Amino acid sequence: MPPITVAPSILSADFTRLGEELADLERAGADIVHVDVMDAHFVPNLTFGPPVIQRLREACGLPFDVHLMIEEPERWLADYRTAGADWISVHAEATVHLHRTLEAIRELGAEPGVAINPGTPLSAVEPVLGSCHHVLLMSVNPGYGGQAFIPESVGRARALSDLVRERGLSTLIEMDGGLAPDTVRGPVEAGVSVVVAGSAVLGRPDRRAAVAALREACS
Ligand code: DX5
Ligand code: ZN
Repeated sequence: MPPITVAPSILSADFTRLGEELADLERAGADIVHVDVMDAHFVPNLTFGPPVIQRLREACGLPFDVHLMIEEPERWLADYRTAGADWISVHAEATVHLHRTLEAIRELGAEPGVAINPGTPLSAVEPVLGSCHHVLLMSVNPGYGGQAFIPESVGRARALSDLVRERGLSTLIEMDGGLAPDTVRGPVEAGVSVVVAGSAVLGRPDRRAAVAALREACS
């Protein structure tokens, strides 16, 4: 199988030592950092915003993959880009003008992506697939780390992968939620190439071993 991009989610980090946690991820061989932004409206949880992300980005050499779980993300795109977001994912369920929002992300110089919840049909992404650098398929209902992987996500990854291939696109498929060495292989066989992992990396004491275990499970 082709190599995967490992994107640890800092939602599972020790928030009293975020800078050190990022340094640990770099040493562990992570490829990008997944940053979960929650607004307590779109999802029932609240995390951090641009000022915190900006300080973290200054302290870290890895690209930042910013997952906006916020309503009306189009209002804040420039702030997240200025803070150092390299990839920006917006939820299809959270913005009315999805195509315009994706184009705005690209114009800001970031890589645009659409995220969809487990209950949202893939048809929500289909019309804008050509504007997506990546599609973020949620394999849990967003809001919290450490939830159980939803098995139907594998079939969704396969259907999306087929669609990307039929269209002759190179859109990356990213999956987020409940991924660990015992769940990751199915999605990757189905076409996922960007693997988000919170508790399976930052929830473990040896992050290098945790990243290696994910790669090993997909080899
Ligand atoms: C959930 C977040 C995920 C979360 C994943 O709303 O979008 O990125 O941190 O955590 P795990 O890997 O523990 O399911
Ligand atoms: Zn996420």
